Amino acid sequence: MAPSVPLLWVLLPGLAALEPLSVGLAIGVASALTGYLSHPRFYCSYVECCPRDGQRLNATALKAQLDSRLFGQHLAKDVVLKAVLGFSNNPSPKKPLMLSLHGWAGTGKNFLSQILAEHVHPAGLRSKFVHLFLATLHFPHHDQVKLYKEQLQNWIRGNVSACPSSVFIFDEMDKMHPGVIDAIKPFLDYYEEVDGVSYRKAIFIFLSNAGGDLINKAALDFWTSGKRREDIQLKDLEPLLSVGVFNNKNSGLWHSSIIDRNLIDYFVPFLPLEHRHVKMCVRAEMAARGYTVDEDIVQAVADEMTYFPKEQKIYSDKGCKTVQAKLDIHEDLVMGDTRARG
Ligand SMILES: Nc1ncnc2c1ncn2[C@@H]1O[C@H](COP(=O)(O)OP(=O)(O)O)[C@@H](O)[C@H]1O
Ligand SMILES: *[C@@H]1O[C@H](CO)[C@@H](O)[C@H](O)[C@H]1NC(C)=O
Ligand SMILES: *[C@@H]1O[C@H](CO)[C@@H](O)[C@H](O)[C@H]1NC(C)=O
Repeated sequence: MAPSVPLLWVLLPGLAALEPLSVGLAIGVASALTGYLSHPRFYCSYVECCPRDGQRLNATALKAQLDSRLFGQHLAKDVVLKAVLGFSNNPSPKKPLMLSLHGWAGTGKNFLSQILAEHVHPAGLRSKFVHLFLATLHFPHHDQVKLYKEQLQNWIRGNVSACPSSVFIFDEMDKMHPGVIDAIKPFLDYYEEVDGVSYRKAIFIFLSNAGGDLINKAALDFWTSGKRREDIQLKDLEPLLSVGVFNNKNSGLWHSSIIDRNLIDYFVPFLPLEHRHVKMCVRAEMAARGYTVDEDIVQAVADEMTYFPKEQKIYSDKGCKTVQAKLDIHEDLVMGDTRARG
């Protein structure tokens, strides 16, 4: 929605003094300017605009980003690309897209959500159409569930009215009170409209560690039997997740009506990250900081992480989560070194 610029009225007082020809000219120039200023392409390069109807997400670009930046998550990548492609190519989806991301801490759930959000709204998490909710930050007190429910419903209603393709990310789903989650159920369902607002173009992403232990175990079983990680298929994990997560009444979401109504379109598993993936994260982080990648530091940072299970030490305890902090320390050491030498 571009504002109409009242430029014409600014020019008008002076017009009386001019000849008709110049008046006509001035009006022409003014209206051309007005049109130009309010043209979406111009306007939206200064103010963030909600994508127009029919404006599709660039799936090629999304795939390229996931291929180059998300390490060791072939399943998550495939599922999300498939889900998003189907949703984005459908001119009239029947319900909002609802993804539930599961896996160990630091395996890339937030990271993938962020990349996905950037392809819907280029400003990503900074976009006013992308909303991140943290259970422990936004909904900390269990005795205030009623208030949170109301707040959340008002927010989502307001946000989706302002932009139908709003993206909502709920982190720490396993710490969320089920009542809070139930509050968003009406928006997720197959309704054409709720109180005059259609939610069908919105994207909801739930992140949780629930099921992470089961996914880890499945990955370890694959490893133990000498099979390739990349050969793990969705069907190898789905039965596990359905027993361990959907029927686990202690995992926050799972006794909420969202599960009962089958409103979740895709369960997206994140595999635990190995030493080689941690190294990839370190390299990526060094490159992002503009350093030349030093393999000694890469090795050192990866070696500093702790790994499980105790005997085999295959998977990183915190995924890639502490890579940045660890690199900071090494950076200081390297800097100190050069300073000492210099
Ligand atoms: N699979 C991955 N590929 C690349 N980077 C990753 C991956 N997993 C984690 N990271 C890095 O670690 C950081 C923390 O991961 P995050 O996505 O917050 O983990 P989660 O949400 O699963 O707990 C990310 O910002 C990213 O830099
Ligand atoms: C999609 O992204 C690719 C790669 O970033 C780019 O080359 C292409 O022009 C984009 N397509 C559209 C329609 O914007
Ligand atoms: C949209 O959601 C945010 C929370 O992320 C909230 O602060 C804001 O008021 C909402 N906007 C509207 C118009 O409701």
